[in-house]
Amino acid sequence: MSTNNTTTSAYTDFHLQFIAGEWQTGKDDSSNTNTNPYNGDTLVEIQQATKDQLNEAYDAASQTQEAWAKQTPATRAAVLYKVVNILDQRQEEIVDWLIKESGSTRIKAMVEFSATRAITLEAATFPNRVHGEIRPSNTPGKENFIYREPIGVVAVISPWNFPLHLTQRSIAPALALGNAVVLKPASDTPVTGGLLLAKVFEEAGLPKGLLNVVVGSGSEIGDAIVEHKAPSLVSFTGSTSVGKHIGELANGGEYIKQVALELGGNSPFVVLKDADIEQAVKAAAFGKFLHQGQICIAINRVIVEDEIYDDFVERFLAHVKTLNVGDPNKQDTAVGPIINEKQVKSLKEKIAKAQEEGAKMILSGEIQGQVVPPHIFTEVTREMDLSRNEVFGPLVGIIRAKDEDDALSIANDSMYGLSSAVFTADMQKGLRFARGIRAGMTHINDISVNDESNTPFGGEKNSGIGRFNGEWVLEEFTRTHWISMQNEPREYPF
Ligand code: TAP
Repeated sequence: MSTNNTTTSAYTDFHLQFIAGEWQTGKDDSSNTNTNPYNGDTLVEIQQATKDQLNEAYDAASQTQEAWAKQTPATRAAVLYKVVNILDQRQEEIVDWLIKESGSTRIKAMVEFSATRAITLEAATFPNRVHGEIRPSNTPGKENFIYREPIGVVAVISPWNFPLHLTQRSIAPALALGNAVVLKPASDTPVTGGLLLAKVFEEAGLPKGLLNVVVGSGSEIGDAIVEHKAPSLVSFTGSTSVGKHIGELANGGEYIKQVALELGGNSPFVVLKDADIEQAVKAAAFGKFLHQGQICIAINRVIVEDEIYDDFVERFLAHVKTLNVGDPNKQDTAVGPIINEKQVKSLKEKIAKAQEEGAKMILSGEIQGQVVPPHIFTEVTREMDLSRNEVFGPLVGIIRAKDEDDALSIANDSMYGLSSAVFTADMQKGLRFARGIRAGMTHINDISVNDESNTPFGGEKNSGIGRFNGEWVLEEFTRTHWISMQNEPREYPF
């Protein structure tokens, strides 16, 4: 992979919207001040888009989609392969944006860059992997064909935590499969969540109008994006509360549309008494504190069997104390800043509530600006706020389980069901335990934070509907069309 940036000049003009293949000024009165969450520097000021500009984006997507779908698979794949190429050439520039715009540590930015590259490469294979079927018929003389067609126009709404990857994992498959896209990135990350990718696709030669990036506030233009006639699918990644609202709009408005909802999580990380404790400690620290815990699949509850609880806590505390906290740009920083002040405030409230509820705070530290150091709580019970709700920050509660059955019961005691993990030396036990968890994903002897471009990513219960990656997303972003052919006259009853 090349990281040579010397021949490529960095992208500019991130103050503009990308609509109908043109970079244009937002026409709304309000603007988005995009800031660096670590030092507060203003990165870019973006005039927001109006509903008329949103309509323009949908018109462009609708008008260009059919011609794109008719392109050969090789033509569509070539654009995706070119995108991979450009990502490689611009790796440093992209990593730099992830650090300064989303507060990613260097480690997290590299993880995100790699995941983005991987899903783009996977998507480049989709044009040639989509296929139909021929099914037998019980009607004499009939043949049944099942076609898989592009779904049409896809609306994508993405979050700020893994903005580049969580946007790309919708738009790359969507475009590869012959669809057009209207994307609204999160207001905290309009560049890495959208405009930067628009520059990359433009440079890769994607025809104008197929990818539109509309920067605006979710509360202002969110409903209009979902309710518009044009999109047949709304691919939303974000909080459960907004996801529920989008689901209601998509199915209760004038135009019914499909939804793919990737929502909140509350991942359990279970350490059984026969586990390799040292390995479990390191995993728990990485799976909890990567990106300051602001990951839907981050470890949210550490559940440890009674017999090893004290030992685990002691070693975990010692390890977490060694983590470097602060400037995300530094090579060895493990915990950087929280995305915005609102999230910092919610974490302060959670710290106070945990203490009120009787959890024992064994590690804390001074909150400086938006940097919240790791906080560890022990003697946490399943009823406490730290266990019941998604934390989305570097605070962790450790719950004591009486035995394996109790650990499983605690793990499943959640309205979420996204990812999960279990540590044990006995793989059969691990597999049995994993299959007992009601979640979309479970990792044995690893962290809950895993995403591979060829395995199904998604959740159960309030964590959402649908699956990303591999053939699962290939199904999400296409529609099925049954066409039957009556080859000889059929006899009708009347
Ligand atoms: P949200 O507040 O839900 O925001 C996500 C996106 O929805 C943003 O682009 C936001 O725009 C937009 N939005 C807000 N209100 C809207 C509305 N009424 N209609 C349409 N769009 C609207 O979530 P967040 O705070 O960015 O992300 C954190 C949450 O997302 C956590 O719960 C996390 O678990 C979840 N998440 C889940 C996953 C997966 S894969 N399951 C991945 C990442 C994050 P604005 O920014 O303009 O408000």
